Amino acid sequence: MAPAIDPRTGGRGTKVAIIGAGAVGSAVTYASMIQGVARHYAMFDINESRVKAEALDIAQGSQFAPVSTVEGSSDIAVIKDSDVVVITAGAKQKPGQSRLELAGATIDIMKSIVPKAVEQAPDAIYLMVANPVDVVTYAGWKLSGLSDGRFFGSGTVLDSSRLRYLIALACGVAPQNVHAYIAGEHGDSEIPLWSSAMVGAVPLLQWGQTVDGKLLDDGVREAIHHDVVRSAYNIIEGKGVTNYAIGISVASILGSIVRDEHRVLPVSSYLEDWLGISDVCMSVPSIVGRAGVGPRLVPVVTPREYDGLRRSADSIRDVARQFGF
Ligand code: 2OP
Repeated sequence: MAPAIDPRTGGRGTKVAIIGAGAVGSAVTYASMIQGVARHYAMFDINESRVKAEALDIAQGSQFAPVSTVEGSSDIAVIKDSDVVVITAGAKQKPGQSRLELAGATIDIMKSIVPKAVEQAPDAIYLMVANPVDVVTYAGWKLSGLSDGRFFGSGTVLDSSRLRYLIALACGVAPQNVHAYIAGEHGDSEIPLWSSAMVGAVPLLQWGQTVDGKLLDDGVREAIHHDVVRSAYNIIEGKGVTNYAIGISVASILGSIVRDEHRVLPVSSYLEDWLGISDVCMSVPSIVGRAGVGPRLVPVVTPREYDGLRRSADSIRDVARQFGF
């Protein structure tokens, strides 16, 4: 029997490129390989010995995962004709530093990388992961010349995972049974959408007591929000970088793209009159599939949540403008 030909790839299998072989790019590749997201992974980094070593280290465990190949190179041609390109190369956040402080340095990196990447993989979907992801997604998208649906960022997918994890601990349920989104900036001004959050079949705002016997009131919610915002700072303080949770979050976004799953994910993308918010890239729950990011959903938000989202959009836009975007 002839092997099935995937009409999207002509039978060669899906190819995902990862730009940047640091802790994040390597974790993205590793998590994706374990989950069987793609058939081929192409890692690119200007540090040749690092990229080759990371690719080899990941490839040598591939017997224990769905079949794939992993190659690493300092020649950008390695990403040629990829179906999805993930960009993790950017300035590194130091302990205590905010993501927005990295904007200038990461935008400079994008000015050199994005045009070259688009030349190699003109038909790919682009997924920005480098920080500050909202500002850099906007800049990278403008530099790419692609449609807004094909160039977007990992946004608050990780923050929403952190939120669900903490709510799950507080309520004594599995994170899989928590349905809650963080929207806005992937950073200090992000906003938890409490009013649409659900735990099992119960609206979070109607949940009774936490496992500690406290009422899940404003104070507990504020503490959870604060913990989500502080997570990256605390992890960077302890180990210098965050990589595992972002790695698996990105693998999950990649899965929704390559398998055309239409998951509703809070990715960062260009907004045009989303609840009156325009000309900025930030996260709102959006449908993600093989064509990239599709409809941005409009949940019911309270006036307080809405004010927070507007302020978050303004702060991202202000930083982008400072750098000429
Ligand atoms: C994170 O939130 C630092 O943006 C990275 O883990």
